[in-house]
Amino acid sequence: ELSDAERAFQERIDAGIRIEAKDWMPDAYRKTLIRQISQHAHSEIVGQLPEGNWVTRAPTLKRKAILLAKIQDEAGHGLYLYSAAETLGVSRDELLADLHSGKAKYSSIFNYPTLSWADMGAIGWLVDGSAIINQIPLCRCSYGPYSRAMIRVCKEESFHARQGYDIMMTLCRGTAEQKAMAQDALNRYWWPALMMFGPSDAASVNSAQSAQWRIKLFSNDELRQRMVDQTVPQIEYLGLELPDPAIKWNGERGHYDFGEINWDEFYQVLKGNGPCNRERLRTRVKAYDDGAWFRDALQAHADKQQENKKS
Ligand code: ACO
Repeated sequence: ELSDAERAFQERIDAGIRIEAKDWMPDAYRKTLIRQISQHAHSEIVGQLPEGNWVTRAPTLKRKAILLAKIQDEAGHGLYLYSAAETLGVSRDELLADLHSGKAKYSSIFNYPTLSWADMGAIGWLVDGSAIINQIPLCRCSYGPYSRAMIRVCKEESFHARQGYDIMMTLCRGTAEQKAMAQDALNRYWWPALMMFGPSDAASVNSAQSAQWRIKLFSNDELRQRMVDQTVPQIEYLGLELPDPAIKWNGERGHYDFGEINWDEFYQVLKGNGPCNRERLRTRVKAYDDGAWFRDALQAHADKQQENKKS
């Protein structure tokens, strides 16, 4: 049974009224948002690492400048999202501690290795492409600070997706070896990109409640299907082979059919057993520890200014 306050809250949601930080909200709504927004923030931050590996090896100065700008955008997205989470009464230090101890989740996709330059293309195209499909609806989600953060994030993600597709086009118009690199990157990133949308609807424990609260406007499987439908023609345009032999247009459904996802692999990655989970976490913790002197200096500077103001 809902309490009067909970019923009034649900009515506001149903009427499409945004919930703001100082509004009353059920504890479970607050917890769900902290969970999702913090996981999302961590994904942006850890998501810098696979691409960071290629900054020193980008093939041209122009590609290097673009890649650097994209990685910096991801850092910015992480910061907006931590700020959005902080409006819910949790501190950034707590969230970071949970990431660094391995307690907090971040997107499974970032636990796969980046083996060639073509992976920069595949990540921009498929990973940022999937992120956009997932995040456009979040611009209309019920929690104001999260929905507003998503607007700028989505604009920047669409630049990222285009730069990825541009890398793929260049490789596909290049030598046979370059085209083979593009094919290999597509083959390796295809399934992990589909896994980004989360478990199947039948297995998604949080979906029903999040849909009722309008945090989720579309289900995991609906968004995954949207990704497949959007991407298959782009694969064909590149002249690459489809990465899944089961992909086939289904006129009756008006969608592409596709093969079964390896859910065992997905859950292994979530448990910390993906190909790069340990390496990613280690690199992230080291970066944080190496930055301690800088945070200390900022704090000392702020303290000194405060002192000066008093005297
Ligand atoms: N990687 C890691 N964990 C995942 C993934 C994934 N790809 N998909 C689902 N999970 C986790 C969920 O976080 C949840 O874990 P928890 O209950 O311990 O928190 C569990 O698996 C069950 O999944 P669902 O019940 O479907 O969870 P939820 O309703 O939160 O849906 C989804 C998952 C779709 C990812 C949702 O959280 C979401 O839309 N998040 C915002 C977008 C986001 O985080 N994107 C990050 C990658 S994009 C980028 O950064 C470039």
